Amino acid sequence: MNFIMLVLRLLHIVAAIIWGGSAILMSLFIGRGIEATAEAGQRFAQYLTNTLRIHIFITISAVTAILAGSMLYWIDSNGFSSSWMRSSAGIGFGIGAGFGLIAFVSGAIFGNGNARLGRIGAQIQEKPTTDQLAQIQAIQKRIKRVSPIHVTSMFLAMIFMASARYLMF
Ligand code: HEM
Repeated sequence: MNFIMLVLRLLHIVAAIIWGGSAILMSLFIGRGIEATAEAGQRFAQYLTNTLRIHIFITISAVTAILAGSMLYWIDSNGFSSSWMRSSAGIGFGIGAGFGLIAFVSGAIFGNGNARLGRIGAQIQEKPTTDQLAQIQAIQKRIKRVSPIHVTSMFLAMIFMASARYLMF
């Protein structure tokens, strides 16, 4: 069991670091940089999504973190049945997991929006058509709305995960 726990912890923590770090960097810096640098930013965004497939890399780390985290929770709580779930650590990891799931859903909307922007950008010839412009603006609006939810829930998940063992409820 110790070996399984070690592997799951390594998978969970390494994937969560990659996922959380990428998500915060994308939302707070790269996304804003792309928006502020107009055409150059659009080309950079297209390269990130269409060539480097950054959204797939982030999705794989997010899914790995959540699957390994859920398995750790399952083992720690003896299949969701032990009193560990009602202990301070169990509640702390549970709250962190809740924020992790909110970060996952909001991140999926964010990442999907960026990928769609990359695809539309690749179709644009010289200037965007009115339809393409309307689509770009609608997607950018959705990304702006979801981004604070994504960043906040990610920070809260990190804070609860890192402190769960030391909390006193
Ligand atoms: C659905 C999402 C998640 C679930 C179910 C989950 C579950 C867990 C569980 C049960 C542990 C304790 C493992 C053990 O017994 O050693 C843990 C530890 C940890 N998790 Fe998560 N987690 C989730 C999301 C996240 C996220 C989003 C982050 C950070 C971005 C994160 C970072 C960590 C870290 C750093 C630890 C080690 C804490 C320690 O050893 O005290 N987790 N997670």
